[in-house]
Amino acid sequence: MKESVKKILAVALIAALAFAMVACGGDNTADGGDIPTYTAVTEATFPPFDTVDENGNIIGFDMDLMNAIAEDQGFKVEYVDMEFDSLIPAVEAGNADIITAGMNADDPERQAKVDFSNTYYDSALVVVVKNDNEDITSIDDLTPDMKVASQIGTTGADQVDELFANGKIAESVILNGFDTCMLQLINGDIAAVIIDKPVAQAYMNKQPDKVKMVGEPLNAESYGFAVQKGNSELLEKINTGLQNMIDNGTYDALVEEWFN
Ligand code: ARG
Repeated sequence: MKESVKKILAVALIAALAFAMVACGGDNTADGGDIPTYTAVTEATFPPFDTVDENGNIIGFDMDLMNAIAEDQGFKVEYVDMEFDSLIPAVEAGNADIITAGMNADDPERQAKVDFSNTYYDSALVVVVKNDNEDITSIDDLTPDMKVASQIGTTGADQVDELFANGKIAESVILNGFDTCMLQLINGDIAAVIIDKPVAQAYMNKQPDKVKMVGEPLNAESYGFAVQKGNSELLEKINTGLQNMIDNGTYDALVEEWFN
């Protein structure tokens, strides 16, 4: 074979190899192994924890925190948006690896289905009404002619269902997104929304003078990430990474960025 032909073949071979490595997603770790990519599921009408930017990317405190954990622990995460009541089934079925959704981990029913990480944010549920509502000053002012809303599958929906079951309200309005709950509240279709306090606060900061929180918090909850039952390898990585992010100040910087 002519020397020049050999050279062309060699160049072509290198190019093909390089292409193959890129096509395989060839992020190689130092020891040559591939960096695992996990699928995380969320419901993205829950800012500042989980939302969607102008370009349709899923962003939020949960994603930034999980991405920092992933970088620390040598994995990558892809995010998928779905309805809140589909999150646990997706992980149970093995269709997703992680739940990053501001999900209360202090919940025995959920704990029976998935394994939770150490908790990363303390929260609570509150009653939210329109800013000009002078009649409802706490949950005790809800009356049997009122409709109250929350998001499907959430702890807030449990509270609304309970109010309805006890004859305290006319209707339990369970909607897919918290954005729709807030819209219906502002439109006057419903009297109140039961929602997580930091999310209500963020809404009020963004759109002042539309809604307000009334009364005392209804509960105390703590958010955790969740993985499939028995996936202790991934859970261990998440817990170690989370602790590292707390220790090195990343956690506090993210809280500052998303909540202040
Ligand atoms: N903290 C509540 C729960 O655990 C609501 C979470 C809603 N999260 C969301 N990404 N939409 O049920």
